[in-house]
Amino acid sequence: MPKILNYGSLNLDYVYEVEHFVQPGETIASKSLSVNCGGKGLNQSIACARAGGEVFHAGKIGAEGGMLKAELDKSGVNTSFLVQDGGSNGHAIIQVNAEGNNCILLYAGSNHQIKEAEIEACLDYFGAGDYLVLQNEVNHISYMIDRAYEKGMYIVLNPSPITEELKEYPLHKVSLFLLNEVEGKALSGEMQEEKIPEVLKEKYPEAEILLTLGERGSIYFDGEMLIKQKAYPVKAVDTTAAGDTFTGYFVALRAGGRSVEEALDLASKAAGMACARKGAAASIPELAEVNMQW
Ligand code: RIB
Repeated sequence: MPKILNYGSLNLDYVYEVEHFVQPGETIASKSLSVNCGGKGLNQSIACARAGGEVFHAGKIGAEGGMLKAELDKSGVNTSFLVQDGGSNGHAIIQVNAEGNNCILLYAGSNHQIKEAEIEACLDYFGAGDYLVLQNEVNHISYMIDRAYEKGMYIVLNPSPITEELKEYPLHKVSLFLLNEVEGKALSGEMQEEKIPEVLKEKYPEAEILLTLGERGSIYFDGEMLIKQKAYPVKAVDTTAAGDTFTGYFVALRAGGRSVEEALDLASKAAGMACARKGAAASIPELAEVNMQW
């Protein structure tokens, strides 16, 4: 079975519950504050592990990042390639409104202190057919894509958040784009969402495309097979990490040999469950819970 390496971000999430998102020039009081483990990378690794995948999380935590490593260890993620330095950890300021929607402000901190030598030492352990999972919250993404491509690894990119630099990355080497409609529109230039998978496939012929559409489900396209997956309705209390849950589940299940259809269905169920719970990493269900609930 291929090994999964997630070279990704780890954030301390400062989550504020608010009635509505703060507006320009406005000061509002929050109803609560909690400090949670998060970061798209960490969330996706935990989702992979909870879906039954063998996953390694590489990246960098700062002086105050001990709880992030502890959470990965507790969840069964291999942290041999996680590095700690004395700088500030990455963090996110997250407002969650009365409808359970969020808005997120990121500070990269240690997530942008990764060194090429650390990447080399880590990639040495992986080979052809192994998975490399990336989001856009760490530095040296182009370097990682180039090196992993040379090794024949299967490269999954969740291009989130969208940045100016993203278009400069060697995206033609990506094997699977896993992205939401905002990212899909930005990367393809196509505003009609049902056309995004085909436009991206034309632009990046080597890649499979998986577009997530929130409550409207998801679309998978590999050039021949087009699959539309429904979302599972839930009462949302906090949508943070729902996309990460979907990504981690889909990747782990595909690496584990499940069909695209099965992986899509289980990933949708798990993402729905994550919306019905508070927090990021804490909201991600185990595969056994997913099988029990639906
Ligand atoms: O996708 C949700 C995550 O985005 C949060 O945990 C936050 O840390 C940001 O990286």
